[in-house]
Amino acid sequence: MEAQLKAMRQEALRELEQITEIDTLTEIRVKYLGKKGQVTSMLRGLGQLDPSERPRMGQVVNEIRTELEECINAKREALKALELSHRLASERIDVTLPGRKPLIGHKHPLTLTLDRIKNTFMSMGFNVEEGPEVETDYFNFEALNLPKDHPARDMQDSFYITENILLRTHTSPVQARTLQATEPNKPIRIIVPGKVYRRDYDATHSPMFQQVEGLVVDKGIRFSDLKGTLELFIYEIFGSNVGVRFRPSFFPFTEPSAEVDISCVMCGGQGCRVCSSTGWLEILGSGTVHPRVLEMSGYDPNQVSGFAFGMGVERIAMLTYGIDDLRLFYENDMRFLRQF
Ligand code: PHE
Repeated sequence: MEAQLKAMRQEALRELEQITEIDTLTEIRVKYLGKKGQVTSMLRGLGQLDPSERPRMGQVVNEIRTELEECINAKREALKALELSHRLASERIDVTLPGRKPLIGHKHPLTLTLDRIKNTFMSMGFNVEEGPEVETDYFNFEALNLPKDHPARDMQDSFYITENILLRTHTSPVQARTLQATEPNKPIRIIVPGKVYRRDYDATHSPMFQQVEGLVVDKGIRFSDLKGTLELFIYEIFGSNVGVRFRPSFFPFTEPSAEVDISCVMCGGQGCRVCSSTGWLEILGSGTVHPRVLEMSGYDPNQVSGFAFGMGVERIAMLTYGIDDLRLFYENDMRFLRQF
C-alpha cells in the first residue's frame, strides 16, 4: 500500500504541475480529495490493514492529504496572480496617447452679424428693444399707416393666424409699440432685432428671416441725422471705402422714404452677376417717420420728429461673408458653419 500511496502522490503532484487553469484545479481536488477521491478511499481502506500498520499508514495518508491540499491552494494563488498580471498587461491604458478634443462650437454667422450690428448701434447710444413675433393687424399694418385694403400690404405676403392676427412681416410694429409705451414726445433711440415672416422662398428669401429695425424720435430730428447715422453704421460694417447711395423709395410709415444701397462688395462697383451689373446692392429701407405714425401712437408731430430704418440681417451677413444662397444659413450643414 505504501508504494501505491507514493505513486498516487507523484501522479497528483505531476498533474498539478501541468495545470494552467483554475477550473481544472477543482477537478483535481475532486479526483483526489473528494468524497469518492483516491485519498479518501485510501483512508477508508485502512480498515483492512493489519491493526499494527494502521497508525503509521494513517499518518502517511493524512500527510499526503495535507500536502495535496496545500499544493492545490498554492497553485490556485499562483494561477490567480498569473491571470491578474495577464489582465494588467492586456488592459493597460496608454496615457501618452493624445486625448480626444471635445467639439467646441461657436456662434452662428447670423448671430455674429447681429452682434456686430447691435454693437455698432449701441456704441451710438441706441437701446435694444424686442416685440412679439405673433402680431396684431393693428400693430403690423394699421398703426404704421397701412389701413385695411391699402395696396402696400401686398408687398408683404403674410402668414395669417386669424383675420386680425398674423406672424409679423417686419419689425416695424415695435415702432408703434414703443411710441405707445413711452411718455408722449419723450426721446426714443432704439434698435429692434427679431424674426419676421413672409410667404416666399428662394435663394435670397426665406419664409422666416431676421431684421433689425431702428427708430429715433426727438426734437428736431432731420433726414440728415438719418443719413449720418446710417453712413456711420455702413462704414463700420463694410469698411469706410464702400460707396453709399440714398435712393428715393416709398414706405407708408416714412415720408420721405429712401432705400440705401452700398457699392457692390463683390465687384467694387464695376458691375457683376451679384449686383445685376448695376454696381449697387440694396441693404435697407428707411425714411423720416410719417407724422401720422407719430400721431396715431400719441406723439405730437409738431413737437418732435424722427427717422426709422429696417434691414435684413441675412442680407448683411451674405454681403459680409460673400455668401450667394441665404438658405445655407438655415441648413445646419457643419461644413458651411465651421468656416466662421
Ligand atoms: N419695414 C420695412 C420692410 O420690412 C423696412 C423699413 C423700416 C422701412 C423702417 C422704413 C423704415 O421692408
